[in-house]
Amino acid sequence: MDNVPVIDFGGQYSQLITKRIRELRVYSELIPYDIDIKKIKEKNPSGLILSGSPYSILSDREKAPSINKEIFSLGIPVLGICYGMQLISKIFGGEVASIEKNKYGKTKVKLDLKSSLFKDLKPVEICWMSYKDIVTKAPPGFNVIASTRNLPIAGIEKPEEKIYGVQFHPEVAHTPSGMDILKNFLFEICGCLPSWTTVSIIEQQIKKIKEEVKEGKVICGLSGGVDSSVAAVLVNKAVGDKLTCIFVDHGLLRKGEAEKVVETFRENFKINLIHRDASDRFLGKLVGITEPEKKRKIIGNEFIRIFEEEASKIKDANYLVQGTLYSDVIESGTKNAARIKSHHNVGGLPEDMKLKLIEPLRFLFKDEIRKIGIELGLPDEIVWRQPFPGPGLAIRIIGEVTKEKIKILQDADEIVVEEIKRAGLYKNIWQSFAILPDIKSVGVMDDKRTYLYPIVIRAVSSQDAMTADWVRLPYKVLERMSTRIVNEVEGVNRVVYDISSKPPSTIEWE
Ligand code: XMP
Repeated sequence: MDNVPVIDFGGQYSQLITKRIRELRVYSELIPYDIDIKKIKEKNPSGLILSGSPYSILSDREKAPSINKEIFSLGIPVLGICYGMQLISKIFGGEVASIEKNKYGKTKVKLDLKSSLFKDLKPVEICWMSYKDIVTKAPPGFNVIASTRNLPIAGIEKPEEKIYGVQFHPEVAHTPSGMDILKNFLFEICGCLPSWTTVSIIEQQIKKIKEEVKEGKVICGLSGGVDSSVAAVLVNKAVGDKLTCIFVDHGLLRKGEAEKVVETFRENFKINLIHRDASDRFLGKLVGITEPEKKRKIIGNEFIRIFEEEASKIKDANYLVQGTLYSDVIESGTKNAARIKSHHNVGGLPEDMKLKLIEPLRFLFKDEIRKIGIELGLPDEIVWRQPFPGPGLAIRIIGEVTKEKIKILQDADEIVVEEIKRAGLYKNIWQSFAILPDIKSVGVMDDKRTYLYPIVIRAVSSQDAMTADWVRLPYKVLERMSTRIVNEVEGVNRVVYDISSKPPSTIEWE
């Protein structure tokens, strides 16, 4: 299968380039710019893309990331984007200079249609630019293939060596013909075949897991979220009943969620499933606990303990399935953010377990995992489920967690989700849910005074959960939610909408 990695110099669009290439059905991954050239050769790539960068090519050597020049003598086509083009220019003896002020925006670019990179494009296309440095002299032997009114060198090529560079960004939506340019690079210049499809990924993963596991036994921590569910079904296809899934139900799930997980896996997929209902044990540990971090720690520890108890009953298990996805892999490579909350991933790896990991989704983005889930026949409810925190409703119930409060929150949350779905908004919203604060307020119902809980509705849009904005939900939708919640949920007399973004708030309340 063809693969075209993106050599990452830290540009803001690096990840997007890999997504775009995958959308064109060629496998792509990010690789660090200082990777050993041997490792690149081992990947046997059909082409290479050099990404943009926040650095200036003109800053001193230490700061400006570069690559081993040998890359250009491997006979592999290369496309440099923005910084990538400047780097090519510098390495091959061209000149790069800084301009006074950053230039960015949509720009008309004149293209040389004789270049294979621009096959079937128009002589002038709108392209997205964002730069501070420019190539002022193309390297000897290179043709200039693109220019703008202010920028004489906006694209270069050395077709006999299949080296190309563009100053603009074909990967962003603001460059309407950008996908055609990437297509030309992949299919005309690199000679790739569009063979990276959902079916091929499934087949490839099944083959790989079969070869690895052989006669071994596999366990999988199932949370009911899309990632662990897709991972479990995929592994089940490869190893059948050598797989046992462990579903630790802490009693803090959304309404009907546990039943759906059990039904889907046991009945629809005939997967060995241990459903450990540990709700009383979790609730017991949470009595009197109000401090959010304490709640999280207690749930995290208890979860791992119970998972281990169940895992130890499966004799000779030697593999553990994890639903790690590509964004986790990329993030953990670069993460240096301060710990705001101690996140606990359901099904996370207990440190002292001597199990080998199987991570069949490690190279996939969320949207790709969803496509695989659909192909594998998982129900929409699981495939499209919004993210849900490991500690569950415990961090949406402010103050002490009790059975009564869980029931109130589950009922209110069900209405929020139903109304979001009814309005056709569910798939486009990152998360939409209810929160139960630890206060009561006065109301009037049936001519009588009430003193009951309020429910907070939260709906946020986000790309990656690192930042988020509150969704401007239509008043009609908010109105229906409010009316239904106070009428249908016992114990609630007021509904409010959370209009805070992250930062300064966070998505969850605890
Ligand atoms: P915050 O509240 O930090 O949440 O803005 C960011 C995203 O992470 C989810 N979240 C968690 N996920 N275990 C998880 O698996 C956790 O402990 C946890 N805490 C928060 C949250 O739902 C949001 O998507």
